[in-house]
Order: sequence, then C-alpha cells, then structure tokens
Amino acid sequence: MRKRIVAGNWKMNTSIEDGSKLAEEVSKLVLDLGNTDIGVAIAPPFTHLATIANIIDSEKVCLAAQNCASEESGAYTGEVSASMLKKLGVDAVIIGHSERRSYFKEDHATLTKKVNLVLKHNMKLIFCCGEVLDERDQGIQNDIVKKQLEESLFHLSAEEMDNCRIAYEPVWAIGTGRTASPEQAQEMHAFIRSLVKTKYGDSVAESTTILYGGSCKPSNASELFSNPDVDGGLIGGAALKADDFVGIVKSF
Ligand code: PGA
Repeated sequence: MRKRIVAGNWKMNTSIEDGSKLAEEVSKLVLDLGNTDIGVAIAPPFTHLATIANIIDSEKVCLAAQNCASEESGAYTGEVSASMLKKLGVDAVIIGHSERRSYFKEDHATLTKKVNLVLKHNMKLIFCCGEVLDERDQGIQNDIVKKQLEESLFHLSAEEMDNCRIAYEPVWAIGTGRTASPEQAQEMHAFIRSLVKTKYGDSVAESTTILYGGSCKPSNASELFSNPDVDGGLIGGAALKADDFVGIVKSF
C-alpha cells in the first residue's frame, strides 16, 4: 500500500509567533487523531524551521521546506542549501512549485539540480507539476506534465523514486478557489501513474504517492481523496488554519 499524505505549504505567510502557534496547534490535533497511517507534513518559511523543529513531534508531523538552493554551497547570496535544511531537522523539500517556476524562473535544468541535492542529503522530495489554464484549454495538459516529469524527475533510479512524492497542482486551481473536479484530478493522477509505470514498472508506480494541490479544503477533500489514484493533498491556503488543515487529514 502506498503512503497517503497531507502536506501543508505555508508559502510566505505567518510571523514566527503565529507560525509557532500554528505548528503547535497542528501538532496537538494530529496527536489527538491517535494512530493513523496518514502522513502529515508542514512546510513553513525557512526562518521558522529551526524553531518549529523543536515544537513538533517529528514522529507525527514531518518538517518540510518549500525550496532549496540548486548548488551545494558557496557564493550564492540569499540561498539556503539542502545540507543546511537537513541539519535543521528538515525531512522533505518541495521542488518545482508553480510559483517557483513562474515568479523565479526555475527551469527544468535548475529543478533537476535541486531534485538531486534533496535526495543526496537524504530528504524526501515533493515534486510539483501541473499545467496553466491556457494549456488546459488547449487540451495539452498531459503533454505539459509529461515533459515536466521527464525533464526533472525521470532521470532518477527506481530506488531514488522511493523517496519521491509527486504533487499534481493545476496552476489554474492554486489559490483561486477553483478546484479541479474529482474526475479531472483522477484522470491526471492515473496518467501520471501510467508514466511512472512505463518508466519504472508496476511496483514503483503502485508505491508512488501522488498528491493533489489546488484549492483543496475540508469541504472538497474527501471527494478528491476518494479517487483511486489521489493519495492525498498539498494544501496552501487551508493549511494556515490548524482546524481546516487537520480537517483535511481527517477527510480520508
Ligand atoms: P492552495 O495552494 O491550496 O492555496 O490552492 C496549493 C499550493 O500551492 O500548494
């Protein structure tokens, strides 16, 4: 059985005080859930990671980062390396989020370097892919997602894929309140799984966790997660309220 996961991407939100409080609340609510096989992760801003590492129980809540540098170390002003994150207690890194691709011009080559560094430093990878609205309107969403995976992810070995989760996030659904329909999500997730199968075979495809992201909230999560190929969510806005976020975890 593949791992089901709900991960919260806080983006550039919360002060250190508010973020610490949010992490504490999430931690407590997750603890209250008792024994669950659903993996829960939070990705606060870089500045909060060291503090929050000491707040959460790492057995229950995985600490993730939203990005890392594409280089190992050196004269890269303002960057944070994968090894620095690992030393802070970070367990997973989100790479290839559409906001990084579009606002910060991260291309396939840059993303490939980041993917390699995350895995080299023994962290899990949450690799984002997804089409923009115009691409969906043209009906080329499958080609776009295929290219994103082929160019920055499918160079990995089958063993490395073990530490990789894929997040399908249609860009037109991120922060817009417009969620992909459960059918649209399932269709793309099944397609992504078929690509993993073609490249790595049945067993890797069956064990790869594929998350959905884009205006996922407590009211639509269970419908999305009830699809056979949707293994959880990458949550933005709704991850900023502990009740909503854990409500999404509960909707499995
Ligand atoms: P959203 O963001 O839930 O606010 O749409 C999702 C994401 O960008 O990961």
